[in-house]
Amino acid sequence: MPEHFQALVVDKSETFSVAVKPVTLAELPAGEVLIHVAYSSVNYKDGLASIPNGNILRNYPFIPGIDLSGIVVSSADPRFHEGQSVIATSYGIGVSHYGGFSEYARIPAEWVLPLPEGLTLREAMIYGTAGFTAAMSVQALEDHGTAPDKGKVLVTGATGGVGGSAVAMLAKKGYHVAASTGRTEEAAYLQALGAAEVLSREDVSGGAGKPLDKQLWQAAVDSVGGAPLAAVLSKIAYGGAVAASGLTAGTAVPTTVLPFILRGVSLLGIDSVSCPMELRLNIWERMATDLKPDSLEALIDREIPLTELPSALEDILKSRTRGRVLVRLS
Ligand SMILES: NC(=O)c1ccc[n+]([C@@H]2O[C@H](COP(=O)([O-])OP(=O)(O)OC[C@H]3O[C@@H](n4cnc5c(N)ncnc54)[C@H](OP(=O)(O)O)[C@@H]3O)[C@@H](O)[C@H]2O)c1
Repeated sequence: MPEHFQALVVDKSETFSVAVKPVTLAELPAGEVLIHVAYSSVNYKDGLASIPNGNILRNYPFIPGIDLSGIVVSSADPRFHEGQSVIATSYGIGVSHYGGFSEYARIPAEWVLPLPEGLTLREAMIYGTAGFTAAMSVQALEDHGTAPDKGKVLVTGATGGVGGSAVAMLAKKGYHVAASTGRTEEAAYLQALGAAEVLSREDVSGGAGKPLDKQLWQAAVDSVGGAPLAAVLSKIAYGGAVAASGLTAGTAVPTTVLPFILRGVSLLGIDSVSCPMELRLNIWERMATDLKPDSLEALIDREIPLTELPSALEDILKSRTRGRVLVRLS
């Protein structure tokens, strides 16, 4: 173990700063499992954690990074052993407990998962929390009765991390995926992920304000929220569902009750943070098997070292990333 290692530290003590700095083990929070981090990734929430008014962090200095994969250095919990490959995402990681933007992380055993067979440490973080959220969304829609032979499925924010992962997973399962994006110039990328058609945001939000519109999709994976989610709800077919996980277009959804009471549409809430461990393990298992896209590598925007994180964090908040930014720690 080196005496010092590198981590991205967000501080507010004098002026607000985001910088790669040397850190010692003694500075890491309590937890049973010490992990030599191999990969982390950049999620929208990490972007919010890196700005002064992002409303994610309460305590400073802080090491963000809501997900990580790596090798166990030591464990005070018998479920994990030295040399084991593990994943840690969600819970307080990168929000109230130092996270993955660090060469070493100390994590409570309750939050750690063995790396599922069929995934490498690198692949686990190509997915990261965004991929996990997409998989939870697919699972929720399937539990609702969504199936490939019942019609098209819409994915909003399709060039984002959650959106791109959902496009690739749904395509793998044989769905006709309609991918909606503010960047239609990325149509070839979305088609390579498996989108059968690429729509503009205006295609989806056209007629906004109408409580009910043409019934275009049996279901949708939405990580955008806001007014676009209201437009999506108005165009879901009878008995369909929307899995809602995000807020990049805002938190207020100006809808009416009509899609729910006249078309039996369901709005399924997706929360990856407190997802129960049993479901979490099942979802990761599926991400390593039937949901694993042939084109997982295609989701990578870029692979970066710690030093390039400040600009990548700025990029995700400005929708300048495409798919997933992978962070290489060791
Ligand atoms: N519920 C959970 O557990 C959970 C877990 C992970 C993420 N999330 C949330 O999911 C959202 C997406 O996360 P992410 O990591 O995928 O972020 P991301 O990579 O930045 O993707 C967000 C995408 O949303 C679209 N978008 C951005 N601004 C928009 C606007 N004003 N109107 C419509 N579309 C807009 C863009 O796609 P296009 O340019 O293609 O339209 C953008 O790429 C975030 O709100 C995040 O907090 C929630």
